[in-house]
Amino acid sequence: MLVETKSNQKTDIDYRSEVLRLKDEMNAVILAHYYQESEIQDLADFIGDSLQLSQQAEKTDADVIVFAGVHFMAETAKILNPHKPVLLPDLNAGCSLAEGCPAPLLQQFKDKYPDHILISYINCSAEVKAISDIICTSSNVEKIISQIPEDKPIMFAPDKNLGQYIMKKTGREMKLWMGSCFVHETFSGRKITHLKLEHPDAKLIAHPECEEVILKEAEFIGSTSSLLNHVKTDPAKKFIVATEPGIIYQMQKAAPDKTFIPAPPEASCACNECPYMKLNTLEKLYLCMRDRKPEIIMDEDLIVRAYKPIKRMLEMSK
Ligand code: 13P
Ligand code: SF4
Repeated sequence: MLVETKSNQKTDIDYRSEVLRLKDEMNAVILAHYYQESEIQDLADFIGDSLQLSQQAEKTDADVIVFAGVHFMAETAKILNPHKPVLLPDLNAGCSLAEGCPAPLLQQFKDKYPDHILISYINCSAEVKAISDIICTSSNVEKIISQIPEDKPIMFAPDKNLGQYIMKKTGREMKLWMGSCFVHETFSGRKITHLKLEHPDAKLIAHPECEEVILKEAEFIGSTSSLLNHVKTDPAKKFIVATEPGIIYQMQKAAPDKTFIPAPPEASCACNECPYMKLNTLEKLYLCMRDRKPEIIMDEDLIVRAYKPIKRMLEMSK
């Protein structure tokens, strides 16, 4: 592939071997989320869900963290490693959940319920983390909620779908912020019903960021890593997968004899990719390592404040 060098000459670059060379040279670790392009997943030292990636970031001894994921994930890695450079291939890799929950508005919501504990889903900005009591992900939310005393009222932000699902599952009442993921919200119940008729042997599995109409039809609900574990152990040979289709790459590797059908959105395309996750490309991964930017830069005070609820989550997840 052609790329412009620092001296503005165009040359052929083998991104894969260059990324590996730069990784060694800078003693970097590449952390990738399951929703990344398969060629990026193939280069990662660790592929995981939001919790696993935070745990890896916390314990890494690499000098540089290269985060192939979205901004809030790289920001979390930076909060856990304030003295290390954290690189993100595209700084515009945001998240609709994080964008739909500005900290000043969440603060106003919080002020209305001063006796409540605020648990925030990790898909939020560092500013939101800084005003939260505990952070959670879709893989540890139940464990965290089960550790909150029964008489302590809870507020949950920003994902209403995950919040409603957890309220039903745990029987705990929570005040919810009305945010959502614009990828998981667009799965079409109508098209999924057609797919189930076409493939009666297929099981529907879904991420809890999906709307209730999808979740109530699902035979298994879980975070990306639990969905992946589930398809390895469940005897079914065919699955309709209601989450971002990047995960199907690892599902296929783990269970090559099984069939994975991406759940379709209402719009005309067959699958439902996260446009933010897909902003990272192999070329941008190479460029960010070559140029050591874009880098996550954060205010020290914000890092200190956002660290506490993240650390609390990591402790409570053990
Ligand atoms: P998990 O990987 O933690 O399940 O989260 C999914 C997601 O939407 C990440 O943005
Ligand atoms: Fe955010 Fe949804 Fe994309 Fe995950 S899939 S990063 S929740 S917009």
